[in-house]
Amino acid sequence: MVLRQRTHKIMMNLKKVFYMILLSFMATVFLSNCKHQPGVFYNDTPAVSIQCSPDTVYFQNDILPLLVSSCSTTGCHDKQTGKNDVVLVDYNSVMKTGGINPDNPGSSKIYEVIVTNDERMPPPPSAAWPKAQADMLYTWIAQGAINNQCSGDSAGCDTTNVTFKGDVRPIFQKFCYGCHNSANPSGNIDLTNWDQLALIIDNGALVGSIKSEPGYSPMPKGSTMTNCEILTVEAWANDTVINSGGGGGGGNNGIACDPDTTYFQNQVLPLLVSNCATTGCHNTISHKEGVILVDYSSVMQTGKVIPGNPNGSKLYKVLFGGDREDDIMPPPPSPPFTTVQKGIIRNWILQGAKNNYCNSDCDTTNVTFSGSVWPIIQTYCLGCHNGGSSGGGISLRNYSEVAASANSGKLLGSIRYDAGYSPMPKYGQKLSDCKISEIRIWIEDGTPNN
Ligand code: HEC
Ligand code: HEC
Repeated sequence: MVLRQRTHKIMMNLKKVFYMILLSFMATVFLSNCKHQPGVFYNDTPAVSIQCSPDTVYFQNDILPLLVSSCSTTGCHDKQTGKNDVVLVDYNSVMKTGGINPDNPGSSKIYEVIVTNDERMPPPPSAAWPKAQADMLYTWIAQGAINNQCSGDSAGCDTTNVTFKGDVRPIFQKFCYGCHNSANPSGNIDLTNWDQLALIIDNGALVGSIKSEPGYSPMPKGSTMTNCEILTVEAWANDTVINSGGGGGGGNNGIACDPDTTYFQNQVLPLLVSNCATTGCHNTISHKEGVILVDYSSVMQTGKVIPGNPNGSKLYKVLFGGDREDDIMPPPPSPPFTTVQKGIIRNWILQGAKNNYCNSDCDTTNVTFSGSVWPIIQTYCLGCHNGGSSGGGISLRNYSEVAASANSGKLLGSIRYDAGYSPMPKYGQKLSDCKISEIRIWIEDGTPNN
């Protein structure tokens, strides 16, 4: 008995010694690795080929978008956080911290944590990578884990029979869903939700963002789509709007407007863009005092909006001058918000400050200046074109000024984004097709003052 216990004790001690040696050995290897790491630099400039070969997996086209959208989200493997010292934002960081092993792809750390069942990456509630994506990662490593890219010739891009399932969804899966899903709806957009997707198709934000058009946050964040991928999504978005249209005045996917609800996209944003995001003020270039008022997320964050509590929200308080009377926004000589305009901001915050949108009744059968054109100018344009400096010398203060702009061709040219004109409303989203039609019909009627 005693002997057995003793042997056991000795064995335990031996085990301890063994583990200590092992540990110190591992530490040495680890530390010496660390010492050498900063010297290693992997070039982030990819080798670009024009044609995309179906047999090759490309880092820039196939792998980086997946990593950026599902791993380097805020708080995880982005540059700032770098959880567990793993950063996955570009080729250099992936090679340095992803444990890539081209000699034995299956043993690459990054691949292991994606296919494992326990403590898998990305952690729940994010969905696990589908097998096809994991396989693609494996193939890329097996093909040498090189920094390659193909540019996807747009001349050879076929957008005639684009479908959501076959073409668009795979693109969203690769570039977008990681940041825009129900558990993590960045910018309050869940692209897996059809209603929300329809909303951003309808208001132009989907195409505006992937084409980096002025007024939109360029998407996808952190990676680049090929021209063909952009054209594919655009072709589908255009078709979708037309196909689902309810007849007359262009297609609509949204919800009909409820008179008791105040809508951010229809009422609040146009007011803010035209009164506050003017040159030198709160657009993405000027952002005075860190305040940017060009889209939902910037308004919520930098306008310090507290849903349900207008009096506690900076965006609302400054309309009255904030804590000091003389801080009133917009500052003189711009006119202050009218009571009705203040009411719009107040109601919207009271109703929960949501990123909501509705299809306004836009009637192209009975177009008049006072009933159709003037309300559009008031909501979307007048804040800048009020005779002050923010309208580039163009005033739209009354019938004769609007008619003059219409007769010069500039009014229609600018709202249609025609080549040769500055796209209007500046910093805002393009007017809906129906609103553009109303203005066009009024001009074709001979700009009557009715
Ligand atoms: C790495 C995360 C990330 C990825 C990937 C990403 N987005 Fe976004 N997206 C955001 C964030 C965050 C916002 C909020 C606005 C901002 O911060 O720029 C946003 C905003 C948007 C907007 C609103 C833009 C605006 O100006 O109103 C649209 C539309 C959008 N994303 C679509 C997409 C699409 C389509 C893709 C894929 C092609 C994509 N996003 C990929 C993070 C991401
Ligand atoms: C945020 C401020 C802002 C808003 C909102 C705005 N504009 Fe402008 N607009 C400008 C500025 C500044 C210019 C001068 C050209 C430039 O800087 O792009 C301009 C120029 C124009 C021009 C001349 C374009 C050209 O190419 O000669 C027209 C016409 C015009 N705006 C009409 C409108 C209409 C119509 C709306 C509303 C649907 C509108 N603007 C909304 C600031 C604005």
